[in-house]
Parts: sequence; C-alpha cells; structure tokens
Amino acid sequence: MDKNKIIIFDTTLRDGEQSPGASMNTEEKIRLALQLEKLGVDVIEAGFAAASPGDFDAINQIAKATSKIRVCSLSRALENDIKAAAQAIAPAKFQRIHTFIATSPIHMEFKLKMKPDEVIKRAVAAVQYAKTFTDDVEFSCEDACRSDVGFMKEICEAVIGVGATTINLPDTVGYRLPNEIYAIFKQMVEFIDGRAIVSAHNHNDLGLATANTLACIEAGARQVECTINGLGERAGNTALEEIAMVVKTRNDHFSPLYTDINFKEIYPSSRLVASITGIEPQPNKAIVGKNAFAHESGIHQDGVLKHRETYEIMKADDIGLDKNSLVLGKHSGRHAFKDKLISLGYELDEAQLQVAFEKFKILADSKKDVYDEDLRELVNDEFMGAKTKAYEIALLSSNGCNKGHASAAVTLNHDEILLSDSALGNGGVDAIFKAIDRISKVSGELKDYQVKAVSKGKDALAKVTVKVEFEGTGAIMGHGLDVDTMLASAKAYVGALNTYLASKK
Ligand code: KIV
Ligand code: ZN
Repeated sequence: MDKNKIIIFDTTLRDGEQSPGASMNTEEKIRLALQLEKLGVDVIEAGFAAASPGDFDAINQIAKATSKIRVCSLSRALENDIKAAAQAIAPAKFQRIHTFIATSPIHMEFKLKMKPDEVIKRAVAAVQYAKTFTDDVEFSCEDACRSDVGFMKEICEAVIGVGATTINLPDTVGYRLPNEIYAIFKQMVEFIDGRAIVSAHNHNDLGLATANTLACIEAGARQVECTINGLGERAGNTALEEIAMVVKTRNDHFSPLYTDINFKEIYPSSRLVASITGIEPQPNKAIVGKNAFAHESGIHQDGVLKHRETYEIMKADDIGLDKNSLVLGKHSGRHAFKDKLISLGYELDEAQLQVAFEKFKILADSKKDVYDEDLRELVNDEFMGAKTKAYEIALLSSNGCNKGHASAAVTLNHDEILLSDSALGNGGVDAIFKAIDRISKVSGELKDYQVKAVSKGKDALAKVTVKVEFEGTGAIMGHGLDVDTMLASAKAYVGALNTYLASKK
C-alpha cells in the first residue's frame, strides 16, 4: 500500500442519491459508474443492496459493467444486509463490503437502544461474516465524530482483529471544526498504526466538509469519501472535485500525497450528475459552478488577459472545461461531430453515434450555433431514461392566453399506433400534461418542474426536468430537451411516464 496515495471513494450513488430528489434509475447509475471509472475513482459505493430490489439490481449491474473500479455496497451490521451486499457485488472483479453501526452515545441509547458492549459484539460479528465473502471489508463507526474516542479505539481494535481493512470515521451530522476533527483523527491514526486504512466521510451541514476532510488527510487519513458536486443527504457530502483540485493545486503543501484522479474528467462527471439528477451545482460552487472560471469585473478581465495567473489559480482546461470550444452548426459533418464528442469524453458505438448525429442535425436546423453544453445535454438526454419507450411525442400544439387558460392537443406514438387527445389547463404546460394523462390513462401528479437554458442565445436549448408521481407511487424524474420549451416539457413528462411504465413491468 502506497502511504502517499489518497484513495478516492465515491458515494454519489449511495449517500449522493440520498439527496432529496436525486434518485436515479439503473441505466443512469450504470452510466455514472462508467464515468466514475474514467474519472479514476478507486472505490465506488454503488448503493445499499438491502434497501430495495432496485438498489440490489443496480449494484449488481454496475458490478458486471465495470472492470477497473472496486465496487462496494453499504450494509447495516446485520447478516441479511451483508448477504445481500455480497450477492450484489459478486460479479465485480474488485469487491468491498462496507458495514456500519453507530458508536455515539446519543445514537446507541436512542436509536439502537443497545449497550456499548452489545454494539462491539454486533460489529465484530458483522465484519467476521462479511469476511466470509470478501477480503476487503470496511467498517464505519456511524456518528464517529460525536463518539467517545476511547470507545472508538475499543471497537476498532475489535473489528481490525477480525479483519476489517478500512476504518471509516464519519462526521455524520457535519458538526466538527477542522482543528477538532484533526485531533480525533490524529489519535485514531496513531492508535490504528497502519493496521487498516483510516477513512474520512464528512457531511457539509456547516459548510466545513472540504476543510474537515483536508484536516483528516493532514492527520493521516488515506481514504476520502466524497460525491460529485457535493451531492448528499441534507447539505451534502465532501465534494470530490474540491478535494482532488486542492491536492493538485496546492501540491506545494500536500506533496508527496496524490490522488489518481483524471482531472480532465471532472467537468464531464459534474455535468453528467447534474443532467441525471436535475440538480445543478450553485453558480458560485467551487471548481464546477457556472461562474467558477468566469471573470465579470473589468479589472479582473484586464488582469487575466495580461497574465492569466493574476486572478486564476487553476485552468478551466485542467478540469476538462474548454472555454473556447469550437462551435458546431448545420454544415458540420459527421466527422467533426464525432471528433467533438470524443474530445468531450463520449465514446459512442456506431449505432449510438448515428442516433446522436441525427439528433444533432435536427438541433442544428433550429439553432444557429451548437455549443459543447448543447452536445453534452443532447447525448446525455438521448441515452438516459427508460430504454423501452412506451410513448413518444408525435405531434404537439398548445395555445395559451394571458388569463392563464390554455389548451393543448397531443399525439403520442404508442407501439406504432398514433393516439391523440386534447385538454384545457391552467397554462400551456398544465394543458399538455393533462392531455398526456388522458391518452396514457395514467394519472400523474407534478411534484417539481424546472426549466433552464442550456447554452446562450435567444434560440438556446431548453432543458426541462420534471418530477411526477404516477398513481400515488414515488416521484419519478423525466428530462426533456428542445429549443421549444413546451415540447421540452412534453418530452420530460413522457420520459417520466416511460420510466414509470418500465418500472411497473
Ligand atoms: O454519514 C454517515 O455516517 C454514513 C455512514 C452510513 C457511512 O453515510
Ligand atoms: Zn454519510
């Protein structure tokens, strides 16, 4: 084990997915897992196998689809959870089971209702059982950073004794300050003394997740658990891109420590997560926010033009963001299109390339310049969502008036049969969604609706993200992309409907 390497453990698919509204379907999870592999992540927490059959299946498919990355499933310290985790990750070349139990007084007394010695027994039994499936077992003391350090030493000694290879000490509620977490980690790293890798997993409730994680690294942690765009439960987890770029940019301070992150894949990974979840990083988000490399003030612009480093400590290009991207248009050929996609990190097979090229041509006919962002969304949109599309929009017309009343006529293609209906609504979008409900005979309740312009110009592509609850089941996400906002809305709604129908099957 290289003591200078910081192991990057990505939990976007598990803790990230616990972010309100961030649920992803299996195809989306596989795409993201493959992107994380390209990004150079070492371990991917693909889900929580015992949580649901859908989670189990997604982990299992990721285990089959990936080849370089270590695939991990979370499990409580319970035999059935561990068995499910082991079965889900079984096809992976490199495997890990991650089992946890809470160790703080407040969690043990009120949540677990267990005495500390019972918690130790349960943890030991869990690690022993996990070891019967794989050599690589991670143990987490949930709420570690509010636990008694003496007790943590006791439980860690016990689980290391039966073979735990990584000890994770989460700041589950994002409570600690950097100097405090440093002191906790320092004691634990010294105590563990190289017998297991010590891991940091920090939540961002006070906006300290990145600072705290850096403090943990300083104290000797050599695994960092993080998510793309800092997605995660409540205020999120440590952002992967922040840790990777701090260690690189402040190499003067962190050297000889390093990560194996392929920096140019940071921006594509961030865009993919935003596309899939519909959750955009805030504009001023470090590294991947829309404004992270934009200079608005004249003084700054002047300085950057004279000498870039006057106001820039990183290059946009380092994270795979090409600010001077070549613009494509309707005269661009298949070759230029293919080259462009490769430069954006997409490797499509011939059939996929053909589908994407046809979509691009349609787009280029209705939009003068096609930017990188448009292409990213176009490809992400085409290969996301349910594979089997029960319905597709064939025709759409909507009329509104300034009093809010509107009508819409929709024709959907359903197994090569055209079905039409119309509806009145409170605004165009409402009328369209009602007409779609009438055709499909499935009633949906709109829970969230967002529209954003993908790139610049009055003819910018509109990206609509909806969350819809069909027939009282959980909310399902749909995305729609078009230069026409009404059509993008209809596509998003039909996308969610298709995902719902596929999941019912
Ligand atoms: O925040 C936390 O404590 C967790 C554990 C389950 C690892 O996510
Ligand atoms: Zn967590």
